[in-house]
Amino acid sequence: MIRTRIMATGACVPEQIITNDDLSKIVDTSDEWISQRTGIRERRISAGENTSALAIGTAKQVIERAEISPEDVDLIIVASVTPDYGTPSLACMVQKELGMVNAVAFDVVAACSGFMFALSIADKYIKTGVYRNAVVIGAETLSKIVNWEDRTTCVLFGDGAGGAYVEASEEGGIIAEELGSKGELCDILTEGHTACDNAFNDESGDHDPKYYIYMDGRAVFKFAIKKVVESTRNVLAKADVDMEDIAYVIPHQANARIIDVVAHKLKMDDSKFYKNMEHYGNTSSASVPMALNELNEKGLIQRGDKIILTGFGGGMTWGTMLVEW
Ligand code: UT7
Repeated sequence: MIRTRIMATGACVPEQIITNDDLSKIVDTSDEWISQRTGIRERRISAGENTSALAIGTAKQVIERAEISPEDVDLIIVASVTPDYGTPSLACMVQKELGMVNAVAFDVVAACSGFMFALSIADKYIKTGVYRNAVVIGAETLSKIVNWEDRTTCVLFGDGAGGAYVEASEEGGIIAEELGSKGELCDILTEGHTACDNAFNDESGDHDPKYYIYMDGRAVFKFAIKKVVESTRNVLAKADVDMEDIAYVIPHQANARIIDVVAHKLKMDDSKFYKNMEHYGNTSSASVPMALNELNEKGLIQRGDKIILTGFGGGMTWGTMLVEW
């Protein structure tokens, strides 16, 4: 059976490190509050790099590690809620910069579940034989849509990108998945709102701008635990795989406490849940591929291992995949 297998991973982050102590100089917060409530100690914040630069850096590393030529790439999908432009897409900017002249390129928006949605789309094209391979990336500069005066959100997020090269394979690959959307909860996490201002709208300018990130943290917290637990159970049941057979779970890196509760509810050893939010904070669609890349670079997963990738976020959305490495 043809499956979609992850052949190489990569990541790219801005150089500038902003610690919790740095944040306590601009908002009323402390290292103690942030690290105890979230597990985050520092994050990378752009000193000028826009999202395309991080996506391009990731794609370059991914194709070098996969040892393929840019012309051989069939499909580029970038997930992001912070693209440089409305158009061109980040995927087209990656295509141009790296000379992936034969690829089809487009972006997807599913907030912190974005990489899962992008990987799922690539999987369908590959499994059905439309394309042989894809570069799939999650990339964000959340720092440009964070309200730096709001301590309840600005301490949580960071900038970065991560990604993977996937191709058709008869061994390993994506075994089962669950994607989900619950639009009725769309107001609990929003960003980037633009008003309908125009020369023929009498109410132009008369609106409450909701450009910056707004989040009902407690509601998102509860949603995340419920959906990650349910979808992990569902995906394992679909594939008839036991929890004990999972080498690692790579969850969205929003909050260490969410991950600890999920591990407890799934009755899994929390050492199996990979965490790196300590150094990067919540990087939305980049968080799962950045964590996967780190796990891979450290040699912690071997071919044949079964892993779970799971993301949740704005929309509200969620996506969980069982992958044989
Ligand atoms: O990627 C998208 C997904 N996002 C998430 O998964 C986020 C999910 N939510 C969370 O991770 C948590 O709800 C937060 C980390 C956002 C907040 O943690 P919490 O334990 O739910 O705190 P809280 O909102 O209940 O706030 C507790 C207190 C409040 O003060 P009072 O009302 O008790 O006096 C806040 O004003 O902590 C205060 N607070 C802060 N204090 C110092 C909120 N933010 C800060 C801060 N520094 N940065």
